[in-house]
Amino acid sequence: MVAALALAVVQLGCSKQSTLEPESEPARQIAALWWWMLAASVVVFVGTVALLAIAWLRRGRPGLPLLGEREGASTALVVLFGFVLPVISLVVLFVVANLGVIKTTEAPSASTTTLRIEVIAHQWFWEVRYPGTAAITANEIHIPARTRVDVHARTADVIHSLWVPQLNRKIDMVPGHPNRVLFYANRPGRYRGQCAEFCGLQHAHMALYVFADPPAAFRAWLANMARSRPSAASGPAQRGERVFLSNACASCHTIRGTPARGEIGPDLTHLAGRTTLAAVTIPNRRGDLDRWIRHPQEVKPGNRMPALNLSRADYQSLVAYLETLR
Ligand code: CUA
Repeated sequence: MVAALALAVVQLGCSKQSTLEPESEPARQIAALWWWMLAASVVVFVGTVALLAIAWLRRGRPGLPLLGEREGASTALVVLFGFVLPVISLVVLFVVANLGVIKTTEAPSASTTTLRIEVIAHQWFWEVRYPGTAAITANEIHIPARTRVDVHARTADVIHSLWVPQLNRKIDMVPGHPNRVLFYANRPGRYRGQCAEFCGLQHAHMALYVFADPPAAFRAWLANMARSRPSAASGPAQRGERVFLSNACASCHTIRGTPARGEIGPDLTHLAGRTTLAAVTIPNRRGDLDRWIRHPQEVKPGNRMPALNLSRADYQSLVAYLETLR
């Protein structure tokens, strides 16, 4: 149990999700602005604390110990720290943020991007579509590295917020208001993202990965993702497909190439190709997949997947089937 937990931590924890380790120009500018804001607030904070200390030292005595009895010295200090410095730092930060960072991080014009993807937020997973292809997946977004990707985001239910801090700013997904953001990764890698707006019980388990692939690998991934389910299953997997189609699974999930056309849960056509389950909550391994299907409300309380009362053999063949969906 401890070993399994440790492995899960290693597997899930090795992706970074830090605004201070940017992997794109927009994210770099956000990080730089953050450091400048930190520096400015340190100056203001230190100045304020120093004034407070001076006031404490001179309590009960007239005149400032540092400035003697010079007339107007305390007024000058109050004006400097109470007015001049705050105005200068706020104006400078406002100008830098508005002329630089907001422009760089805002939604791109379509002509400057080479790929468009759609991200639809659900309680609690991310549906991902690649317009112009049949590809639909969930929670693990693949993009080509060093490519400007136009991300069209919307929500299917409540307010969510899409945020992959190493790639760009966060955007809200408000019902009825589609939103857009630029994804760009300087180099191939796996970047963790997170829903950044409280959206219900499992808000904290609404994470995602962005895999920035070398362009050729991305094209191969997309071509596979656009295909229907792998050719007809055999053995336990074939039995598992019957279990899937004859139970509630098929009314909530789609597996392209079968009669399963449900749209409540994620598209499972290539489930086995994902590295995680339940929006990056658990790794996608046989034992975890089995536990997820048997006890969905233990793994992720409040999610919409019900536990089915299947026989042991049915569960086993269901897992065997799902593992063939590459
Ligand atoms: Cu979706 Cu928080």
